[in-house]
Amino acid sequence: MNVLLIGSGGREHALAWKLSQSPKLDTLFCAPGNPGIADVATNCAINITDHQAVIDFCRLQGVELVIVGPEAPLVDGLADSLQDAGIATFGPSGKAAQLEGSKGFTKDLCAKYDIPTAAYQRFNNAPKAKAYLRAQGAPIVIKADGLAAGKGVTVAMTMSEAIDAVEDCFEGAFGEAGAEVVIEEYMEGPEVSFFCLCDGKTALPLTSAQDHKRVGEGDTGPNTGGMGAYSPAPIFTEGMQAEVMDRIIEPTMRGMTEMGCPFQGVLYAGLMVTEQGPKLIEYNVRFGDPECEVLMLRMASDLLPVLKAAADGDLSKANVTWHDETALTVIMCAPNYPASPEKGSIIKNLNTANAMENIEIFHAGTAMKNGELTASGGRVLAVCGIGSDVKSAQKRAYDGVKAVDWPEGFYRSDIGWRAV
Ligand code: AMP
Ligand code: GLY
Repeated sequence: MNVLLIGSGGREHALAWKLSQSPKLDTLFCAPGNPGIADVATNCAINITDHQAVIDFCRLQGVELVIVGPEAPLVDGLADSLQDAGIATFGPSGKAAQLEGSKGFTKDLCAKYDIPTAAYQRFNNAPKAKAYLRAQGAPIVIKADGLAAGKGVTVAMTMSEAIDAVEDCFEGAFGEAGAEVVIEEYMEGPEVSFFCLCDGKTALPLTSAQDHKRVGEGDTGPNTGGMGAYSPAPIFTEGMQAEVMDRIIEPTMRGMTEMGCPFQGVLYAGLMVTEQGPKLIEYNVRFGDPECEVLMLRMASDLLPVLKAAADGDLSKANVTWHDETALTVIMCAPNYPASPEKGSIIKNLNTANAMENIEIFHAGTAMKNGELTASGGRVLAVCGIGSDVKSAQKRAYDGVKAVDWPEGFYRSDIGWRAV
């Protein structure tokens, strides 16, 4: 099978790495890809916002499956255009991608189908939002409705932070994404990410992971796309998985079908384990990054046939198996990430580090310049270790980090601390 993968980050390198091991794969194309992906796929410069250009490429190259990595092309309806053209595509329709693209959409779905989540109200103007804040009191959570690159959420511990957050949204800090605001009850408890494959009707549970969103040690400082992750998350027991499938995932699948937008693709539930049990914080409609990196390292079975089965709308015969080991990844970042990462520094010794036992390195933001590998994004490398438990996977990952010769790069030295 010829496959086209869309994206250029660590998530897509991990997907490409795993897909490239499939006996069912003929040629793997990636648009736009990155220098790490080039080792396992053919990178191609297609403008993915030009849906017809993607369709033309697929027809020319005999692509039988397109796999969409990031959320933006999904919210933009790329999967709709491809499916309409008769090209099987793994990833939800633009309408179903509202589960990530609009926080208000997801909260309304939760209310309608009695899915456990924080209590909320939606607002489209500042005076009403502020009156509600004052009535509720702090701590309280303010969210821009739309996609805001992970920056649209403020967990306000005081009323003045809450008021500032509402003003920022309505004054355009997040552009269109902040034209509507969701205000939520503050929840407390450990967080966990849980992933399912969906075929439009049913959801096949995959596994759990733990992300580290804050830039600083001990989970401090500004939010990022994710500074590291491990899988599985020990707090996510089999019993909890059954409860989440029953009370959160299955009603969501039912609700999406009833609302005329059946969900196909990967459903990523961000959960908080509260005293009243697991509650939904948010949905994403794609694999997490860097969670995908650790998921792919743990997946024992072939990825390609299950993604194709989901895209074809029938997961009833699909089966996914996992290695018993834990995988942990440490993200190496360019200086000054997340504010304004400095690009262009040179990275050396990557091949030697990658060849070490039980270590795998995925490229997240790299570029080749004059024959040298350079940092070209905020999150640059995902250095992964595999071990019998979180502690040994952590040790391997940091052995890998230390073997990379990139003095400008920085990373958190405590990934996995809650579990160790
Ligand atoms: P989100 O983008 O919705 O995942 O939110 C980003 C982060 O904000 C989450 O990972 C949580 O740490 C925090 N957060 C979101 N909603 C709430 C809530 N209702 N109560 C407490 N923390 C929250
Ligand atoms: N690591 C968080 C995300 O992918 O949204």
